[in-house]
Amino acid sequence: MSAGRHDSLSNMNIPPAPRWGLPKHDFWSTPFAESLLLHLDLRSGLRILDIASGHGIPAFYLAEQVGPTGEILAIDLSAGQVARAKAIQGAQLPRLRFECMDMRSLPPDLPLFDRITGNLSVMFFRPDRFQAVQGLVTHLAPGGQIVLTFPSYGTFDSLWQRVDTAMIQQGLLKERERFQAYLYERPSAQEGQTWLEKLDLERIGAIEYPLEVKTGPGQEFLYHPLLRGGFLDDVYECFEDERRAEEFMVKLSEDVQSFTPLIAQRCVLSGWKKN
Ligand SMILES: C[S@@+](CC[C@H](N)C(=O)[O-])C[C@H]1O[C@@H](n2cnc3c(N)ncnc32)[C@H](O)[C@@H]1O
Repeated sequence: MSAGRHDSLSNMNIPPAPRWGLPKHDFWSTPFAESLLLHLDLRSGLRILDIASGHGIPAFYLAEQVGPTGEILAIDLSAGQVARAKAIQGAQLPRLRFECMDMRSLPPDLPLFDRITGNLSVMFFRPDRFQAVQGLVTHLAPGGQIVLTFPSYGTFDSLWQRVDTAMIQQGLLKERERFQAYLYERPSAQEGQTWLEKLDLERIGAIEYPLEVKTGPGQEFLYHPLLRGGFLDDVYECFEDERRAEEFMVKLSEDVQSFTPLIAQRCVLSGWKKN
């Protein structure tokens, strides 16, 4: 057998590597998207609505997997995110469309979808999370599946306990009140499961996968690209006095070993609409 013939035979057994895989160096969106994909029944030809699509995780991956007969509408509230996604897409994957839309109030004339996905989406279903899920499910075709992910109750609890103790020790009563309200407002896996049950979906799952987020002390913690981008800001926002907040956080950052490992809970909510 010639070398050329051998090559072409072995190539036949190797499925082509996806061009639009999930980004390997993303340590937050990608692990959440991986857990979403574990539960999503993904096939060629599907029509998928991807909500809170950001700059395309996992919309690009989904678009490649559903192939030329499938269709993806990826929506995000932020015009900037939509523009960024479109810039990445260029003229590729013509059956993938990025649009600026609010997932809490979709246009009634939007068609039905075989799947609805939303990676890192549920925390934005404010003010009424159940109502947001209910609205989405009206756009799901009979026999269709919805799969959403979010960091659920329990995420970074070791840090929150440390923050709470420090607030008590330092007599920060008003700040603690705000902080407790923030903690109380976070959605849990169980709550998510209840929404899907109330909506009469079937084969419901609310599954959690732990994910360690690594950090060192001091600046590494205070300016951690994930923590500072949201979670730590939520603590800063409990303070009226910015200087006091900074002092509090700097002290906390010197005691990182008391609340690491930092564990997030990746919750995947999945359910199927009855036929
Ligand atoms: C954490 S990002 C997730 C983005 C992407 N799915 C990912 O995994 O990287 C959440 C996204 O939700 C968008 N978002 C927030 N509220 C929204 C709403 N009401 N409707 C649509 N998108 C929303 C934000 O603009 C942001 O891009």
